[in-house]
Amino acid sequence: MTDARAPKRLFIETYGCQMNVYDSERMRDVLSPLGYVVTKKPDDADLVILNTCHIREKATEKVYSEIGRLRAHKERRQAEGKGMTIAIAGCVAQAEGEEIIARAPEVDLVVGPQAYHKLPELIARAARKTGERLAADFTAQEKFDALPARAPDGVTAFLSIQEGCDKFCTFCVVPYTRGAEFSRPLADVIAEARSLANKGVREITLLGQNVNAYHGGATFADLLSELAGLSGIARIRYMTSHPIEMTDELISMHGSEPKLMPYLHLPVQSGSDRILKAMNRKHDGAFYRDIIGRLRAVRPDAALSTDIIVGFPGETEKEFEATMQLVRDVTFASAFSFKYSARPGTPAASMMGQVSDEAKHERLQALQALLFAQQTAFNAAQVGRTLPVLVTGDGRRPGQKHGRSPYLQSVHFNDTSARNGDIVDVRITGSSQNSLAGELPVLATA
Ligand code: 5AD
Ligand code: SF4
Repeated sequence: MTDARAPKRLFIETYGCQMNVYDSERMRDVLSPLGYVVTKKPDDADLVILNTCHIREKATEKVYSEIGRLRAHKERRQAEGKGMTIAIAGCVAQAEGEEIIARAPEVDLVVGPQAYHKLPELIARAARKTGERLAADFTAQEKFDALPARAPDGVTAFLSIQEGCDKFCTFCVVPYTRGAEFSRPLADVIAEARSLANKGVREITLLGQNVNAYHGGATFADLLSELAGLSGIARIRYMTSHPIEMTDELISMHGSEPKLMPYLHLPVQSGSDRILKAMNRKHDGAFYRDIIGRLRAVRPDAALSTDIIVGFPGETEKEFEATMQLVRDVTFASAFSFKYSARPGTPAASMMGQVSDEAKHERLQALQALLFAQQTAFNAAQVGRTLPVLVTGDGRRPGQKHGRSPYLQSVHFNDTSARNGDIVDVRITGSSQNSLAGELPVLATA
């Protein structure tokens, strides 16, 4: 008989957004009392969880090819008299659960994003080979109530406050996979933040598909104020936001609350008013530019990040040029850009005028060249400045530390004395497209 308390190896592969990164951490927390220890390799894992993403076709395809690769590991382990439980979690599990069950007999368990607190029970059931492989739906609140205390593994942490989306952008599967908007009660969020702070966390990133649409008994701005009142928490960030939820109160907080970091991820998707309307984004380009103007008026150094889709159905060259112009006008510190990918069941998938892959490819190349140049220029503009850097760990080379600037840049700097969680002034001496290099300023002696 196997010892139920003997360490078992757990491998989790995370695809997609920060929400999945958060969920993977929570799955690890739920499984650790059962003796599961995280391993970096799937080859020898007792339990493999693929935490999947359904947002674009490519992300979904990856899941099926990964399942194919896992099959070989599972067969080898079975030949050695050991088992391997394969669980598929995340949005593909939610959206295509039945299909996975039918297509992939090696998968033992399919579990949707709201049922992670049931994992111990579901894994035990899979081991009994009951033949039941699909976990039923539960509500988001039930999941949050049942998850164990957090075990953060650093000085920065995600904190999920909101799930799901009611916006129904015509290209997006999220309202179908993650369901209706749900906000956690304010008291629960603050309790989790306090517990993270007590465990050494200094920077919290609030997460939600529409995080600034939060309505858990307080406005999002009120929640930020409460959080800023916790003494251990030095820095607050949030993502992902929707432009129409950027209230005056929230924008002015960026000017008045020093713990709120001067960095905002605010997806714009397109610079063309006609395309924005077809996307059902509920605002136009002028509205977006106005938010940015007001944000920069209260916080002149605010760095912007965004999401952009090229080749939405019907997008002409001229409409794409409107996106390029918006990017030139706003200037982003970083950005995610994608080719439009038709998702089954979404309105845009059956719209007329689907754009050829060739045109999408060309537009993406042009857009990314512009965005990369802006990102590189933004990083280069920090050289010579002294930035407060939150120390997060060891750097690339011996004698170096790694940290984060207020603008979410990675900073590698020469020092050995700073401890994780300290916020130290670092003089920036170099930059690349993705990170900064620096050193602690030498203090002048009197
Ligand atoms: N095709 C391409 N990109 C998409 N996104 C969402 N749905 C699609 C799609 N069907 C992008 C949006 C969103 C980000 C998370 O993914 O830009 O903000
Ligand atoms: Fe998707 Fe739009 Fe909701 Fe964002 S706001 S999750 S893009 S439907």
